[in-house]
Formats: sequence, structure tokens, C-alpha cells
Amino acid sequence: MSNIELSHPISRDNRRLLSLSGKIWFVAALVGQAVFIAFILSYYGSRTATGNFAAWNDKGLITGHVSGDAIGNTMFAVHVLLAAYVTFGGLFQLIPALRQRFPAAHRWNGRAFIATAMFMALGGLWMTWVRGSHLSLISGLSVSLNGVLILVFAGLALRAVMQRRIDTHRRWAMRTFMVVSGVWFFRVFLMAWVVLNKGPVGMNNTLSGPADIALSFGSYLIPLAGLEIYLAAQRSHSGSFKLATSGLVLCLTAIMAVGIFGATTFMWFQDM
Ligand code: HEM
Repeated sequence: MSNIELSHPISRDNRRLLSLSGKIWFVAALVGQAVFIAFILSYYGSRTATGNFAAWNDKGLITGHVSGDAIGNTMFAVHVLLAAYVTFGGLFQLIPALRQRFPAAHRWNGRAFIATAMFMALGGLWMTWVRGSHLSLISGLSVSLNGVLILVFAGLALRAVMQRRIDTHRRWAMRTFMVVSGVWFFRVFLMAWVVLNKGPVGMNNTLSGPADIALSFGSYLIPLAGLEIYLAAQRSHSGSFKLATSGLVLCLTAIMAVGIFGATTFMWFQDM
């Protein structure tokens, strides 16, 4: 039954459609993350390079620069500058053509990506709880769970590749990409919500409104659920499952595109 279904032209079309929807999603994420990298480098990079640290706070941060707090300020600077690399490093790992053409670069970038992601998660946890950079308990807990998932998933991706279990490594690496992108997804989902509802419905200044809570946990749980459905659809012999998943991925891509537009225009580059 499964072989008959797989060789059927409609099933082949559904398989191609699923793969195409995954590629469209990835290209949209790549564009949106490239804009995020451009924002980090132009905003934090230029202020840090010129020593104008106090100007980090021009964009209403939780804590940001505090005069006299050398350790906190250094942690913040390292965190935001590494954010540009970790975002780039994750994209680089997932592009199949680069992986095949430059296997040594894939291995070295993979090690650097995992080490940076873990360092950023630990640094983020330190800033959240030791430095006190959280707006409310629930928002602190949400980003902390994101940090813990980064540590666990990156560790499992590393363990699998060291044991040469490449298929398992591939799956944990994709999950790591999703949770490392949680911070980016959060900004994109927040702005998609604001744009689609024509205002901050269910949100407040301490990120503890119902929409804030749903979007902050959703910023990594929704992409993780989407990835698991996509991987299950890839494995499945059911043409209709592949078709439904392609539709879901394209819907999520459309919402993400609205959020990328919103974050670019109203959050990252609103002064331009
Ligand atoms: C690994 C992916 C991460 C990226 C790409 C990232 C990116 C950033 C960026 C760009 C900022 C500057 C604020 C802004 O302009 O929005 C920032 C600040 C911050 N991040 Fe992260 N981050 C990541 C992970 C985490 C994690 C896992 C945590 C917590 C467990 C965390 C906690 C913080 C805190 C507390 C600040 C300082 C907020 C402030 O003082 O205003 N980050 N991060």
C-alpha cells in the first residue's frame, strides 16, 4: 500500500510540495534573520565599537548599560555581539549546498555555533536572574526555559555527532536551531500579533499580559511543534498528511513574513 501510494504521481507531487514549503519557510527565516543581524551590527556594533556604551539604551532595554557595572555591561556587550554570530552560524549550518561543498567549515562552524549557543544561554540566565534583567517573573521563566532547552538540545546534537549517529544529530541540530532562534521568533511573533490586531491586544509593559505569555512560550514551542510535524510528514507515507503539513508550513511562513515586516519597520529600523 505504502509503495503504491509513494510512487503515485499525486503522492510525488505532495512530497515535492512539502519539500518546497520547507524551502520557502527557510528562505523567509533567512531573510528575517539577516535583517536581525544587520540591526545588531548597525545598532549595538557601532555603539560598542565607538565606546558609546550608554547609547545601547536608546532603544528602551530592560537593563542595558548601567554606569559603574563593569561586569554586567561586559556580559551584555558580549551577549549582543555574539547574538549576531550565533544567528549567522545557525543559518550557515542549515544550508545544504554549503554543508556539502564545505564539510570542514560545517564541522568548525558547528562546534563554534554549539559553544556560542551554550555560552549565550548561560550568560542570558545570569543576566536574567543575577543581574535582574526581567520585566516580570513569568517573562523571566519563559526566556529561562528557552535557555535550558538550548543547553539540552545543543548537548544532544553534539553527543549524537560524536557518536556518529548522523540522522539523530541532524534532528537535534534542527531543534537547536529552532530554540536558538527563539529570541528572534519572539520579536517576530510579537510584531505579527501587533500588526494583525492593529495594536498590542492582551499585552502590557511587563510582558505578562495573556498575549505576551502565549507568545513568549510560543516563540520556541510553536516552531518546535512545527518542526516535529514537518519531520513526521517527511517520514510518513500519507500524501494527505504531506499536503496538510505543506499548508501549515506556508501559513506559518505567511505569519512570520508579517512579523518580519513589523519587526524590521517598527522595532529594529524604525528611525530610518
Ligand atoms: C541564543 C540566542 C539568543 C540571541 C540571538 C539573543 C539576542 C539578544 C539581543 C539582540 C539582545 C539585546 C536586546 C535587544 O536588542 O533585543 C539580548 C539581550 C538579552 N538577552 Fe538574549 N539572546 C539569546 C539568548 C538568550 C537567552 C537564552 C536568555 C535568557 C536565558 C537571554 C537573556 C537576555 C537578557 C537578560 C538580555 C538583556 C536585556 C536588557 O538588559 O535589556 N538571551 N539578547
